[in-house]
Amino acid sequence: MCLLVRFVDSHLNSISHILIPTVNEMKLLHIDASILGDNSVSRRVSDAVVARLREAIPNLDVTYRDLTTAPLSHLSGANVASRSANMEHDQALQEELSLGHQVLEEFLTADIVVIGAPMYNFTIPSQLKAWVDRILVAGKTFQYGPTGPEGLAKGKRVILAISRGGFYGAGTPNAAAEHMETYLRTVFGFIGIPAPEIIVAEGIAVGPDQRQKAIEGALQAVANLRAA
Ligand SMILES: Cc1cc2nc3c(=O)[nH]c(=O)nc-3n(C[C@H](O)[C@H](O)[C@H](O)COP(=O)(O)O)c2cc1C
Repeated sequence: MCLLVRFVDSHLNSISHILIPTVNEMKLLHIDASILGDNSVSRRVSDAVVARLREAIPNLDVTYRDLTTAPLSHLSGANVASRSANMEHDQALQEELSLGHQVLEEFLTADIVVIGAPMYNFTIPSQLKAWVDRILVAGKTFQYGPTGPEGLAKGKRVILAISRGGFYGAGTPNAAAEHMETYLRTVFGFIGIPAPEIIVAEGIAVGPDQRQKAIEGALQAVANLRAA
């Protein structure tokens, strides 16, 4: 990106313009998926992550996508078929395809991706699954080679702000029922991002004291995030 600068040349007594290159902007994609609006913990924590990075990174260009106010449809058979066949698109499919293209481009062009991810029924909300279905696209974010799948989205920083009602840490009775953090690790690992940074607020449904403690712990983890 360049800045157009206007200056007066006193020798020639004229006005000139020059282009000065600026430092490249970092792009951040912020996704929220909680249905609980202002009462959402994952939204609060993902907001704090973005605020922290805005503070730390000059010229951060943030794109926000709320998957509950503007939900993506379930991936349709026609959508998948249109990727490999030269077929007619009716208007509904055309709109679905161009929204999917926009969602994928947002992801591909982002340097940093921040996702507010609540646990619903042991896994991610279906709104977030519809987004994942637009991101995992062969030839764009992964490909199959002679040795198996290879991720193509390497180099992005992904930060997951996770909230869940109970406790699912290693060694807890519910550990085997955790299909959300493990699922998201698999998704991002598959496309070449093996180590997303994960901030967890858990025990949210246990009671007000634990909720408060979990939120404070998560916000402290946000404050400790590396700047860039
Ligand atoms: C529909 C629904 C399903 C839920 N299912 C689970 C669950 O399976 N396990 C769990 O620990 N908490 C569950 N919870 C509690 C949420 O994980 C908890 O409220 C968390 O804070 C949700 O994130 P949010 O506040 O950002 O929406 C559920 C909550 C809702 C609304």
